[in-house]
Amino acid sequence: MSIIIKTAEQIEGIRKSAHLAAKTLKHLEQFVIAGAKTIDIDRKCEEFIRQHGATPATKGYRGFKHACCISPNDVICHGVPNETCLQNGDIVNIDVTTILGGYFGDTCKMYYVGEPSQYARELVETSKACLKAGMKQCFPGNRLNNIGFNIAKIAHKHGYSVVYEFCGHGVGLKFHEAPDVAHIADENTGPILKPGMIFTIEPMINAGKSRSKIDRKDGWTARTIDGRLSAQFEHTVLITEKGYEALSDLYHDF
Ligand code: MF3
Ligand code: CO
Ligand code: CO
Repeated sequence: MSIIIKTAEQIEGIRKSAHLAAKTLKHLEQFVIAGAKTIDIDRKCEEFIRQHGATPATKGYRGFKHACCISPNDVICHGVPNETCLQNGDIVNIDVTTILGGYFGDTCKMYYVGEPSQYARELVETSKACLKAGMKQCFPGNRLNNIGFNIAKIAHKHGYSVVYEFCGHGVGLKFHEAPDVAHIADENTGPILKPGMIFTIEPMINAGKSRSKIDRKDGWTARTIDGRLSAQFEHTVLITEKGYEALSDLYHDF
């Protein structure tokens, strides 16, 4: 599958959608508190997206039934919203993908519930630094896998592992397009980046082992095999003539 070069019109549509996804993450901050059920946060998410004339891409996607993924603590990604209550000290990821005017925008970030341990905060801050290091490799002429190479370098320096079973992905006209964006990779390999390409970078960084296991009960929730913490930030990134624009980076806070 070749990588789509988006037109100016498509880029504008994807930017609007990614901005709405970013606004949704911001809007949800007030609800991410100790005692909140993740299913109730999901309702707030769906309400907000629909109020803005969009639909949540995850709802009905391969049988997923919710407007976002909510992944606390040892959940790596694809956490299914449920009756679980958030607790003081939790770290939790919310991942939102919007469809606005037919265009997809995909972003996620971490939230702190009350006051997580220094240990947990360090993992979260490092996963944010990993996303930034990946974005720095986004410029025309560079090779795609330099993103993953540089992400892994930072994670490993801190003694963390990088999840390789889930990747970033081309995005915009569909939820998941070519290419797969690896978050751990060999230097100077992969396709050459060109202006107009749009894909996500969404490194999942684990405190312990990198492997995941899927919850048998819901068939989606991916957890660390050792029960240790995992953290993730995601942006939808456009390659420009000069470098990149993170289309979902509306608030410049990660
Ligand atoms: N938004 C996720 C991503 O970043 C995908 C979620 S798919 C779902 O690619 F079905 F689990 F919702
Ligand atoms: Co994504
Ligand atoms: Co996402």
